[in-house]
Amino acid sequence: MALQKFLLLGLLLVLTFVGSPATADGPVCPPSTKLSRASFPEGFIFGTATAAFQVEGAINEGCRGPSLWDVYCKRHPQKCSNQTGDVAVDFFHRYKEDIQLMKSLNSDAFRMSIAWSRIFPHGRKEKGVSQAGVQFYHDLIDELLKNGITPFVTVFHWDTPQDLEDEYQGFLSERIVKDFREYAEFVFQEYGGKVKHWITFNEPWVFAHAGYDVGKKAPGRCSDYVKDANCTGGRSGHETYLVSHNLLNAHAEAYEAFKNCVKCKGGKVGIAHSPAWFEPKDFNNKNDADSIGRALDFMLGWHLETTISGDYPPRMREILGYRLPQFSSEQKRKLKNSADFIGLNYYSSIFSEHVDQPDHSKPLFKQDSLIVWKPKSADNYSIGSQPSTGALPVYAQGFRKLLKYVKEKYGNQEIMIMENGYGEHFTDDSDTVEVGIADHNRKYYLQRHLLAMYEAICIDKVNVTGYFIWSLLDNFEWENGYKHRFGLYYIDYKNNLTRHEKESAKYYKEFLGQGVRPSLIKRDEL
Ligand SMILES: *[C@@H]1O[C@H](CO)[C@@H](O)[C@H](O)[C@H]1NC(C)=O
Ligand SMILES: *[C@@H]1O[C@H](CO)[C@@H](O)[C@H](O)[C@H]1NC(C)=O
Ligand SMILES: *[C@@H]1O[C@H](CO)[C@@H](O)[C@H](O)[C@H]1NC(C)=O
Ligand SMILES: *[C@@H]1O[C@H](CO)[C@@H](O)[C@H](O)[C@H]1NC(C)=O
Ligand SMILES: *[C@@H]1O[C@H](CO)[C@@H](O)[C@H](O)[C@H]1NC(C)=O
Repeated sequence: MALQKFLLLGLLLVLTFVGSPATADGPVCPPSTKLSRASFPEGFIFGTATAAFQVEGAINEGCRGPSLWDVYCKRHPQKCSNQTGDVAVDFFHRYKEDIQLMKSLNSDAFRMSIAWSRIFPHGRKEKGVSQAGVQFYHDLIDELLKNGITPFVTVFHWDTPQDLEDEYQGFLSERIVKDFREYAEFVFQEYGGKVKHWITFNEPWVFAHAGYDVGKKAPGRCSDYVKDANCTGGRSGHETYLVSHNLLNAHAEAYEAFKNCVKCKGGKVGIAHSPAWFEPKDFNNKNDADSIGRALDFMLGWHLETTISGDYPPRMREILGYRLPQFSSEQKRKLKNSADFIGLNYYSSIFSEHVDQPDHSKPLFKQDSLIVWKPKSADNYSIGSQPSTGALPVYAQGFRKLLKYVKEKYGNQEIMIMENGYGEHFTDDSDTVEVGIADHNRKYYLQRHLLAMYEAICIDKVNVTGYFIWSLLDNFEWENGYKHRFGLYYIDYKNNLTRHEKESAKYYKEFLGQGVRPSLIKRDEL
């Protein structure tokens, strides 16, 4: 009886899948006893992720021009932990070696970004194109493809060419829209024949908030009333909205350019958003409970809903009034449905406490969402768990809840996890290869989050189709320099940047070693 049932179920699954993969029943998960690639729907893509400035180094090679982050770290060393990305982990020279690591992981795909300052060293085509830069990305992409690794390419991962900063303050000016479109069009034309997965912008929320509201990341702008930030210019609660406005218009222009690019046919474009999940600080307080949707409208809907509906979430418009710029009807038309999938980067969660009386004399993004971010709940609990060396609390439930929320709120679209990973930092004394590769906390984090994603897909029926671990290698972690490590491979900065396999890499390799790689199933569709 049991066997018969099992066979029948198996037959139904096969039939459902062959008949129509996009049934109302959602993703089809094979039966499995141990979590591995084999537990996920057929064709699911697993990869690792990086960003140009964080790994490439070689900042003066191939006619590369200076970018925002080069100049920022040189001018304000303390804001980059007194470190720079000049060498980073030398991916520029060592990418062939690193592609072998991707292969040894049994991974299917690699998320990379193209540095604008390598292609247009001075920010615009008319000021010159670096053929060496263009060639570097061809070589890298070709080497990935040759090794059976699918490239996912981010067009902009925060490294604005410095000349555009000097000329008109980069994303603070609407002039960026035209220049970004020209650049995006160029890379689509150049690589769109062989790259079919694109991300226009990485983490617009972080870029606009950290860069222009609290001054933690380049260009480090904020108002004087922002504590401990040492900003030398800026206007919190204003510039952040302006920057995102220009960024969203730039995205819509790039999306249009992509749709007009003949050789790009069959490709997809999205944005990699970076929401936290929120839990109410006091579960018994209705205001705290009600604040979650508002917190997510601000942190996620700001850039996501706008690319679906063509305008900002109504709640943001109500609260912000004149501080939120307005789109023209032409801009709204271009923004509407301007993404082919939803990219999500998830790391951690936080408690949300409702704010009744915001201080209108000191506008700030978080306060604008009428909440305070609280590490502790009303009864003094932390969210999830946090090892002493961990950068953020580990709360895998938040990942599952976020996925379900996005499915329900934004119409069951295709979702790809563009980043998920675990950061840790050690004291200078304890930061050794031996300690670094024994990363049991990262392995645990990945297990928990892969399980949460499995539950979101197979139980909640969220259509997630890909997952990328941040990151393949330890790398230059922006304001934290090289002090925060996120890699599956340890970089020995004191010894010729040698790569060392961590426990987490061994785990991912074993996880991916089971089941069938998508490249072996239905290559044409991927
Ligand atoms: C998930 O999204 C992809 C891409 O849009 C689609 O091809 C697939 O049918 C969807 N799967 C389900 C179960 O809806
Ligand atoms: C701000 O400046 C003070 C004093 O120079 C310094 O101690 C502090 O580390 C700086 N903070 C940041 C975030 O750079
Ligand atoms: C940068 O170096 C200065 C001087 O050595 C030191 O006081 C400061 O703490 C360093 N900042 C960081 C973030 O490491
Ligand atoms: C919360 O816990 C910390 C120690 O973990 C303790 O120092 C603090 O007094 C507690 N606060 C409250 C309000 O119970
Ligand atoms: C450093 O590593 C690179 C890349 O693996 C290698 O080519 C070079 O020979 C090494 N240098 C030394 C001094 O070991």
